Amino acid sequence: MALVLTVCFLGFFVPALASPSNDNDFLQCLSTNIPSQLVQTPSSPSFKQLLVSSIRNARFVAPATARPPLCIVTPTNASHVQAAVRCGRRLSVRVRMRSGGHDCEGLSYRSGSPNSEGFAVIDLAKLHAVRVNPQEATAWVDSGAGIGELYYHVATAAPGLGFPAGVCPTVGVGGIFSGGGIGLMMRKHGLSADNVLDATMVDAEGNLLADKKAMGDDLFWAIRGGGGGNFGIVLSWKVRLVPVPPTVTFFRVPKTMDQGAVDAVTKWQTVAPVLPDDLSVRVVVQNRQANFQALYLGNSSAAVATMGSRFPELGVTRANCKEMSWLQYTAYIYFRDDIYNKPLDELLLNRSMTLGPFFKNKSDYVKKPLSKDTLEKMFLWPEGAATGQLVLEPHGGRMGRIAADNTPFPYRSSVLYNIQYVEFWNGEGTGGKVTPDWVGSLYDFMAPFVSKDPRGAYVNYRDLDIGANKVVDGVTSYESAKVWGESYFGPENFKRLAKIKRKVDAGDYFWSEQSVPPLPLNQ
Ligand SMILES: Cc1cc2nc3c(=O)[nH]c(=O)nc-3n(C[C@H](O)[C@H](O)[C@H](O)COP(=O)(O)OP(=O)(O)OC[C@H]3O[C@@H](n4cnc5c(N)ncnc54)[C@H](O)[C@@H]3O)c2cc1C
Ligand SMILES: *[C@@H]1O[C@H](CO)[C@@H](O)[C@H](O)[C@H]1NC(C)=O
Ligand SMILES: *[C@@H]1O[C@H](CO)[C@@H](O)[C@H](O)[C@H]1NC(C)=O
Ligand SMILES: *[C@@H]1O[C@H](CO)[C@@H](O)[C@H](O)[C@H]1NC(C)=O
Ligand SMILES: *[C@@H]1O[C@H](CO)[C@@H](O)[C@H](O)[C@H]1NC(C)=O
Repeated sequence: MALVLTVCFLGFFVPALASPSNDNDFLQCLSTNIPSQLVQTPSSPSFKQLLVSSIRNARFVAPATARPPLCIVTPTNASHVQAAVRCGRRLSVRVRMRSGGHDCEGLSYRSGSPNSEGFAVIDLAKLHAVRVNPQEATAWVDSGAGIGELYYHVATAAPGLGFPAGVCPTVGVGGIFSGGGIGLMMRKHGLSADNVLDATMVDAEGNLLADKKAMGDDLFWAIRGGGGGNFGIVLSWKVRLVPVPPTVTFFRVPKTMDQGAVDAVTKWQTVAPVLPDDLSVRVVVQNRQANFQALYLGNSSAAVATMGSRFPELGVTRANCKEMSWLQYTAYIYFRDDIYNKPLDELLLNRSMTLGPFFKNKSDYVKKPLSKDTLEKMFLWPEGAATGQLVLEPHGGRMGRIAADNTPFPYRSSVLYNIQYVEFWNGEGTGGKVTPDWVGSLYDFMAPFVSKDPRGAYVNYRDLDIGANKVVDGVTSYESAKVWGESYFGPENFKRLAKIKRKVDAGDYFWSEQSVPPLPLNQ
């Protein structure tokens, strides 16, 4: 008893499943229900390659390969996903689901708990169809598609239509939609999740829920921003496509500190959130320089005119602008001038990627403008200049016109902008530890100036430093989970998510270090 308590307090164990797991029986069960070439175990020759295929953060390659999952299932049909969940339930083996593998803490393919049980990965990469209905301005997109694939298929099948999601084309639809989905069209059209009309999913019993009617209002609310890995495995999403003009404009204005970067960002804080919805101007701070980067849904003369009247200090001219189609823009923002040398399909449909450095991301929401003095300290943060960046993404526009409880994503009218802090480092030999961790000290410094009670964070920039699940007497503690859960979703939305979890997955089968726990029965 004493031993059990000690271990539980350390929080290393996951909640107990009904019976002890039997890994071999589980693999046997999979092999009778799923074609063998779709299930790989660590002894399969291509297992390691498959495991690392979509890992984006080099920091998690070694931990994932050192303690690999029991197997990776790569379903080509919903029935395979159902079979994996049913086998897992019956034989007490958990599954983690992976779409694009970009989880900031790697929770879709690795366990963050040192002593935890084995688990299987259901990797949805092979389910990546995009079916566009131009007449209806809708599309069904499977979770395993990357957002670049979505953009490409939408724009080629339905010129004049687009979709609001993120910047990096290899980010998976399954994860980004589950957590909201922010990007340069959110001021005009909201989050990706705000444009989800329907979905199909496999629930914690292995049932296929074919549409939102089968899910019920609560569950359909929860999957549109309540975070991945919590309520079931979403296979496909029906989305509302949005109109995009034939020409959009990119512009970029770099400013060094000597050229008044700090003053410009000080002003940007109150200007960017109230610009016309067609114009999004974000700021990337790196090497003590601010880079203002924009998307304007229109031509460059209109972009220059709008900036000239709203933000003349930035001095935007035609020379800062590039006009292109919306589809070109989705590639340009990531690949830059490569778009003039390579066909767009080669860029946007390519799911493999070069593994970059180790990185750690954290996020904040800003509700009151930061002082010039605070911004200057951020620009000059020791060691931050060379090995990281800050990304400031303006809210306002449609983001501010959607109620905070309309979806689980609560950062709506109260927010001016989001800050993403990114630290890169060469992690060889450091075992995944964040070094030197200037991002942690900057985050501490920022506490008084950003949203608080609770301090906000974006679930898709998952950060285990905020808190991880604790398991007490075999049950995931709701009280402990509030620390990170209220930070991502706000107190009301988090409680509603936990209540929905209790309804749809009372046994807490879909579990991770930051999964929503079932609300205790007395609450
Ligand atoms: C390079 C890069 C760029 C990014 N840019 C942006 C951006 O511009 N805008 C933005 O909003 N975010 C951005 N993000 C964050 C990104 O949205 C999240 O990391 C997102 O969770 C990734 O989705 P995924 O499918 O690739 O990840 P995965 O690692 O596959 O999954 C992430 C989480 O969702 C769960 N999950 C995966 N598939 C499903 C499913 N089908 N059903 C239910 N749960 C599922 C996983 O178990 C895990 O908990 C970026 C991340 C990276 C690494
Ligand atoms: C899965 O298999 C069923 C039955 O064979 C079939 O009707 C369905 O179209 C398949 N789904 C996919 C996504 O291939
Ligand atoms: C961290 O931030 C950088 C810069 O925005 C981005 O390229 C990277 O994708 C982010 N990583 C995650 C996991 O969000
Ligand atoms: C640019 O857009 C504006 C406003 O939409 C329009 O009035 C103008 O004619 C356009 N200019 C060109 C050169 O297309
Ligand atoms: C896909 O991207 C990878 C990584 O950037 C690159 O090495 C590869 O050549 C690309 N493939 C194609 C077909 O362009």
